[in-house]
Amino acid sequence: MSQNINMFPQGLALGEAFYNREQERKKLASCFLNNEHMVVVAPRRYGKSSLIKQVLAEIKIPGKRIDLLPATNTLFVNKAIKSCFIELLNQISPIAKQAKLKLIDFIRNLHPKLTLSMFGQKLEVSSTQPPEESIIDLLVGLNAAAKKVNQQIVICLDEFQQVGLLKDHHSIEAAIRHAVESSTHITYVFSGSSRHLLYQMFSTKSRPLYHLCDLMELERIKPNVYRSVLLERAKKKWKRFDDESVIEEIISLTKCHPYYVNALCRQLWKLQDAPARNVAQNCWFDYIETQSNWIKDDLAKLTPNQRNILAALAYQPIQEPYGNEFSEKVKMGASSIKKSLSILLKDDFVYKDKDGKYKVLDPAIETYLHKISYFDFLE
Ligand SMILES: Nc1ncnc2c1ncn2[C@@H]1O[C@H](COP(=O)(O)OP(=O)(O)O)[C@@H](O)[C@H]1O
Ligand SMILES: [Mg+2]
Repeated sequence: MSQNINMFPQGLALGEAFYNREQERKKLASCFLNNEHMVVVAPRRYGKSSLIKQVLAEIKIPGKRIDLLPATNTLFVNKAIKSCFIELLNQISPIAKQAKLKLIDFIRNLHPKLTLSMFGQKLEVSSTQPPEESIIDLLVGLNAAAKKVNQQIVICLDEFQQVGLLKDHHSIEAAIRHAVESSTHITYVFSGSSRHLLYQMFSTKSRPLYHLCDLMELERIKPNVYRSVLLERAKKKWKRFDDESVIEEIISLTKCHPYYVNALCRQLWKLQDAPARNVAQNCWFDYIETQSNWIKDDLAKLTPNQRNILAALAYQPIQEPYGNEFSEKVKMGASSIKKSLSILLKDDFVYKDKDGKYKVLDPAIETYLHKISYFDFLE
């Protein structure tokens, strides 16, 4: 794979591929170093995981991201925390066997043992307690070990909203609160893509995690940042790069959504010659064509009223969705518009931008709806 293609990754963006987010990086780095726990929220594919991983790499302290997206029960969460514990404990444990044994003695309630693997001595733990108690013991034990070796560490519980959906979420949330409140050397980052669920977990008085930490809402990267990053990368890639309008086109097609900027640029940067504006457009439309299966599936999950509103917003973002004009356009009354729109907002199909305009969140869905003239088709 050529170097240029890696500059616009589909997966996590790290190192050279990672651009900007300076304020967020500074803020997170300071939190990580000062034991200030955070909730990082943004819709899917806005760059939460990349940002957290990048900051961890920059400040060079041990950290581990636990992906909770597949969590379906307490046992999964427990196992994930246990393997995180083992990995971080091995990272911070001293190399000398004697010092290692001392650390083991320190966390003896977790029944630690040293095992010999191909890579040398490894620490393992075995626990026979119920999952919630074991979560507390593991996290509190890890904090004690980190304190003992005087090392700050970070645990990121990614897609944390999944925990809130579990049957016995209350006891896991309570266990985590206990561990977080007594933590001196572990900084916790809770990140996730469901704003609605995360707000419920951290902002509802009756929930264990109520007001536990500050919230960072990750926005899209600003057009100006993209302008300079893409211009620099274009000049590096093509000897002749005179027509900067293609950059405006990329920004306008992808609406600065990080995942889609990378998806489109990945294709464009494969071209021998600098692309013109219309090449970028065609490339984007071809790309949307390849995405149509999941887009159709996603749209099929919506009710006709929700689809109707989404299609209208794909045509034209709107500030006053409850006014007469919009109501006539979608042929719905204000109260059903309100009902459908609130679900579209909750499920991240629609977002309200800084100017108060309601827009389709995913630019691929927006283009798809626009392109197939969905709105005309409804009439
Ligand atoms: N700061 C960034 N620089 C470059 N690419 C980014 C950046 N943030 C996100 N991306 C790209 O956006 C997409 C989604 O990123 P990811 O970190 O997985 O988002 P999330 O965790 O919010 O779902 C990936 O293709 C990634 O490469
Ligand atoms: Mg992620």
